[in-house]
Amino acid sequence: MDPNSKEGGVLDLSAFQKRLQRATRIKIPELQRNDRLKHVIFSQQFDKGLLDHLCNVASIIKQVSLDKDGYRFLRDLLCHKRAMLYFTQPSTRTFLSFSAALQLLGIQSAEIRDASFSSEYKGESPLDSVRMFSSYFDMIIMRSKVPDFAEACAYLMNDLDDFNQRNVPIVNAGAGADEHPTQALLDIYTIQRTFAFESDTDKPGSSRFDVLRRKYPDLKKGLSGKIYGFVGDVGRGRTVRSLAQLLAKYEDVTLCFISPNHPKLRISENLRSQLLDSGVKILEPELIEDVIGKVDLLYVTRFQQEHDRDDRSLESVDYQAYHLTPELVSQMKSYAGILHPFPRREEIPTAIDSDPRALYFHQARNGMWIRSALIAYLFDADGRIVSYYTRGFSNHHDYNKGVL
Ligand code: CP
Repeated sequence: MDPNSKEGGVLDLSAFQKRLQRATRIKIPELQRNDRLKHVIFSQQFDKGLLDHLCNVASIIKQVSLDKDGYRFLRDLLCHKRAMLYFTQPSTRTFLSFSAALQLLGIQSAEIRDASFSSEYKGESPLDSVRMFSSYFDMIIMRSKVPDFAEACAYLMNDLDDFNQRNVPIVNAGAGADEHPTQALLDIYTIQRTFAFESDTDKPGSSRFDVLRRKYPDLKKGLSGKIYGFVGDVGRGRTVRSLAQLLAKYEDVTLCFISPNHPKLRISENLRSQLLDSGVKILEPELIEDVIGKVDLLYVTRFQQEHDRDDRSLESVDYQAYHLTPELVSQMKSYAGILHPFPRREEIPTAIDSDPRALYFHQARNGMWIRSALIAYLFDADGRIVSYYTRGFSNHHDYNKGVL
């Protein structure tokens, strides 16, 4: 598409339709430059090696930022860069953790959170808005209720690149009901830390893992060989889709989807066949009770009534049956984790918050570290962070405590 062509006053993605309709695996190479990700649109763009690398960089950033010299090092690292936060769909965690991540790396940012306060109110096309942002900023982090918008913006930037015009990375911070790849990153990071089974009090021969192995002799470290339960609105939750696709990259993984038997609330046929093709085992039990004692991790989601307020068939759904209770939690394995992407409502009562298995507040905080790592990677600064750490920082500081 010629990036100089006029778009009109509304969001019109027709010029990108052919590209948007292709299979994800065909799109992925176009979102890279020189064997690195340029844009982040889908969770499937991350392979296990890159996930491990980003988790490692996130842990380093966490440790380095606690030290005054380390903090200054990070703050100077990308102080010549600017980022635009274009969030026209509501957000608390994603917006704030991206803001905090940018601050950690010394990157200045600006924001639009309500398009009616921008020239879109006067009829400017959102695509023109994004092109304007690319004139002033070096990265655009965006959330939209339109599923394909971030992806189309990545193609717009690639077209500008082909015309030797200024273009910048696009980061999808939540695309309609479609994908939330950076949420999946922070979920993977939290799960990785959980299944490292490390503790501040670990000693040779009597680590937390050694103790757990006495009760669970088959327990292994890492994400492979685990049973993951997803509870609630697994059909419409974009975080479920993005995380399930990443978990499918690990060996011997079982995914249990526990949701009401309604076509909008169960996983889609498309996702089911994609996951089965990746080699994961899928279970769809009726009740949480059927699997609560077996899962290694439970990912709870809220029912997203806002998507289908007019759908009468959803009125008879018994949502209560998909709420966690302290009694259910007491049946879980002692090391199992409970995650929730938030915002939550009544599906996890606050009485569960003090249970050591409740990891959702740690999970939200981890978003700041992994998003810092991702931004550093996209600006090709991840190698300098690792070098700073390995050059001596780790010898002089003992912040090597669990990230959770
Ligand atoms: N998990 C998540 O995306 O939260 P926000 O909607 O608050 O950003």
